[in-house]
Amino acid sequence: MSQPALTAIPQYIVSTSDYQQQARHHLDDNAWHYLVGGAGDEITANANESTFQQYLLNTKVLSDVRGGHTQLSLFGRHYQHPIFLAPVAYQTLFHPQGERATALAAHVMNTPFTVSSLSSTLLEDIRSEDEQALWFQLYFQAERQQTLSLVERAELLGYQVLVVTVDAPLAGIRNREQRMGFQLPSHVHAVNLTRSSGEASHHQSDSFVFNQLMANAPTWDDIEWLLSVSRLPMVIKGILSPEDAEKAISVGVAGIVVSNHGGRILDGVLPSLAALPDIIKTVNGRVPVLLDGGMRRGGDVFKALALGASAVFIGRPYIYALASAGALGVAHLIRTLCEELEVTMALCGCRDLSAITRACVLKKGEADV
Ligand code: FNR
Ligand code: LAC
Repeated sequence: MSQPALTAIPQYIVSTSDYQQQARHHLDDNAWHYLVGGAGDEITANANESTFQQYLLNTKVLSDVRGGHTQLSLFGRHYQHPIFLAPVAYQTLFHPQGERATALAAHVMNTPFTVSSLSSTLLEDIRSEDEQALWFQLYFQAERQQTLSLVERAELLGYQVLVVTVDAPLAGIRNREQRMGFQLPSHVHAVNLTRSSGEASHHQSDSFVFNQLMANAPTWDDIEWLLSVSRLPMVIKGILSPEDAEKAISVGVAGIVVSNHGGRILDGVLPSLAALPDIIKTVNGRVPVLLDGGMRRGGDVFKALALGASAVFIGRPYIYALASAGALGVAHLIRTLCEELEVTMALCGCRDLSAITRACVLKKGEADV
């Protein structure tokens, strides 16, 4: 039996990995394996994390960093720090308050929260009273009209950025879920979608790949159409190659998220950090590039920024915290990561994010280790 979430943070929880261990006590096998797992042999999912160890921090002693901060501007808005919450589906699977708890923590910590198309809470119920940085993650629906009404609804509710995920037109082969016989419990479902469109296309395992699973998959034409009908800045999530980044810029997206969906869709693709440098080179400052996948420490975030990311998303880490201690856990985890980032910046002589450059990290080999 899984235990109810904690109502206070014990002293022994001080890092993402502590939250990961703690979360195991609060989730049943079904939810746990859905959360931690990746596609296939989980080689990419694991490599997302381990690739960060290929880079080492380059300290800079005796630097005056007083008055330092982690603020940034992105898509016309101002943010306190560059660690954002990635879209994660079905959050009531992990905590009874699900997306509502995450939104509360995000609000308190001034952190943009990207709500998934597969949210298990109504978009209307996540919105807070004050102006909050909520972004909306879009999965294209079977019909353009369904997609449009979803986007219009998000716009009307004040969601600020549209994050269009393009790397998961099908759910991928998740052997871990198959072995478990993973199923969503009956009370957890994608309440914002009409049943026919969203869930069927993401949790169907017995259909023909090209003719059924991919039958409604979007193409670049759909991205161009969406750009023509939405007023929100559009960020495309799931880019791993410079060629796709170039294409995305040519159709007019406002930003790019380098991501492999936490290694959950196709095993054997590049770890996201490894994909970043070439994409940064190609994009050459034309649009902001964000990164997600495998960051577990503020030092990892620093490395992503040093390689050229403007900001990052975390996925599993905040869900470990949500499962462990609800909104309190998520807020504490964000604070922990921000502190780790600030400590890293201070010891590497960076007073603000613009000071975090490629010279702030060494690649193993360059560093002779
Ligand atoms: C995800 N991710 C995801 N992405 C997305 O665009 N829409 C979604 O609904 C979901 N759902 C989802 C569920 C779960 C349980 C996980 C773990 C992930 C992917 C997510 O946004 C992000 O790309 C990765 O989680 C980043 O990797 P890390 O931080 O988990 O290593
Ligand atoms: C996942 C889908 C929902 O990664 O995006 O589970």
